[in-house]
Amino acid sequence: MKKLMAANWKMYKTGAEAVATLNELAELLKGTAPEGREIVIFAPFTALERASGAMEAIKGGMIGAEDVYPAAEGAFTGEISPAMIKACGASWVLTGHSERRHVIGESEDFVGEKTAFALANGLRVMLCIGETLEERESGLLRNVLERQLKLGLKNVPAETPVEALAIAYEPVWAIGTGKTATTDDIVETHAICRELMREILGEKADKTPLLYGGSVKPANAGSILALDNVDGVLVGGASLKADSFTQIINA
Ligand code: PGA
Repeated sequence: MKKLMAANWKMYKTGAEAVATLNELAELLKGTAPEGREIVIFAPFTALERASGAMEAIKGGMIGAEDVYPAAEGAFTGEISPAMIKACGASWVLTGHSERRHVIGESEDFVGEKTAFALANGLRVMLCIGETLEERESGLLRNVLERQLKLGLKNVPAETPVEALAIAYEPVWAIGTGKTATTDDIVETHAICRELMREILGEKADKTPLLYGGSVKPANAGSILALDNVDGVLVGGASLKADSFTQIINA
């Protein structure tokens, strides 16, 4: 399986800024993702179309949206449909990111509706899961991951191609805090995630990329990518600058 090197740009970068960063990235990568790696950048809605155009300069590079609404169209002020995302040239979407769960207040059921609808409408989905520090310290790690995976993957269409889905494990306490989970934490938690994925997805589970996210940076990316059951990384802060994201991509 190719390693998936994913960037989450969150609420950073206008269209022009996205293009400038992607142009720099294309130059640093000499126009192609390294052997055995694929790149996906989740960009703000307002930058999607221009970012998709600029990403054409990077072989093995794709663009995704950071959110989606589970309806084809309608009176949903401020929301965006899978067709609108695809029309911008983007092929991926994030669902269940911890900021949407814990800052915006999205429910686990709603995350599941978005995931299923986006997959049914031809987008590739990266479903994010992860526990808060309080949940981990109360011994609820496995319960939380199981609930988020079960509800997040509820109603996923059976005909979903295996390459359309990825799971990103991101401990909430490691996102944007500079605190990375230890390699032991990652190995242990990814093994639990993989086991739960096998229960839910059956034989597709081993072909579904399982990424780690949470304060990934050039200094730790190589050792994280070498761990068992780590099929890629999802990077926030350290993906905003082309040079640091390039170091991670090449780690
Ligand atoms: P971070 O963010 O790398 O800044 O911790 C990761 C994420 O939110 O996906």
